Amino acid sequence: MNHRRTGPITSPHLPLGDRRDAPFYGRDILEVAQFRRSDLQYVFGVAREMREMVARVGSFDLLKGKILANLFYEPSTRTASSFFAAMERLGGSVIPISEVRYSSVSKGESLPDTVRTLECYADVIVLRHPEVGAAKMAARYARKPIINAGDGIGEHPTQALLDLFTIFEETGQVDGLTITMLGDLKYGRTVHSLARLLSLFDVRLNFVSPDVLPFPTSILNELDQRDVPWEAHSDLEAVLPQTDVLYVTRVQKERFEDPTQYAAVKDAYVITPDTLSRARPRMALMHPLPRVGEISMKVDSDPRAAYFRQMENGLYVRMALLAMVLGKA
Ligand code: NCD
Repeated sequence: MNHRRTGPITSPHLPLGDRRDAPFYGRDILEVAQFRRSDLQYVFGVAREMREMVARVGSFDLLKGKILANLFYEPSTRTASSFFAAMERLGGSVIPISEVRYSSVSKGESLPDTVRTLECYADVIVLRHPEVGAAKMAARYARKPIINAGDGIGEHPTQALLDLFTIFEETGQVDGLTITMLGDLKYGRTVHSLARLLSLFDVRLNFVSPDVLPFPTSILNELDQRDVPWEAHSDLEAVLPQTDVLYVTRVQKERFEDPTQYAAVKDAYVITPDTLSRARPRMALMHPLPRVGEISMKVDSDPRAAYFRQMENGLYVRMALLAMVLGKA
């Protein structure tokens, strides 16, 4: 969000009823580095209230009259529909632009111009884009808040927030846990954001991937600077017995230039009931979804399978974020 063009948040043009003192009011959500531990407690507190309200009344008018533009240049089921549902359940409305081929983007319109257009009609823009840094770039042009819903292999901050919220809800705490990330750690943006967010806590991280899909060195260096202990492996069995949270990811087919390379690694790891027989009895098994074979459906009925609860949490966390950014929480 371009603050030069909006002025300070104490602007007399502040919409009626907005809370100037609300944390994250009017701010972009671009990367997890924006969040401190105290912010996380706040977001998760609001998310729990949202869950209560949805269970009790379904929808309520906190964001009545507000409009969200949901701009997706890459496929999405959960992120797009949970932002959509979040806005609707808060009484607001949505301009969905997920078929960019039917918008002026297909005529060659640039991202800055598309964003400058949508912000004339909407109060907040959720953006998913294939290029790293796209959300940051859009935010430089926008007067309204931009929420990064995934920028290529870069970050996916709202997913990391719902992942961390899920870890809290499943295990009761984060400090002291050993968290193992498994699969495509090179291209998977969710693990890039989640590892950074977890570096605010006293955790041990394991990165298990095929040799050709390692966790990025640049983020490992960030973890070293924060004294987060980590290990890299290619064999899950080496760390499974000590793992409290197993976070499985999909091999990101769309990021491979050579389809034979994808084919060589796509089935590198598959979680089955047999795998879980060697895991801790209270382990939380997570996945941002979609899964394409990394977790057998036979595992779904195991109480440790947390991925459906995880995706439901996405609704409550995104309701919290929209309410905060729009000054109502
Ligand atoms: C993830 C994404 O888009 O990065 N999905 C999601 O947002 N829930 C993970 C993936 O696509 O594999």
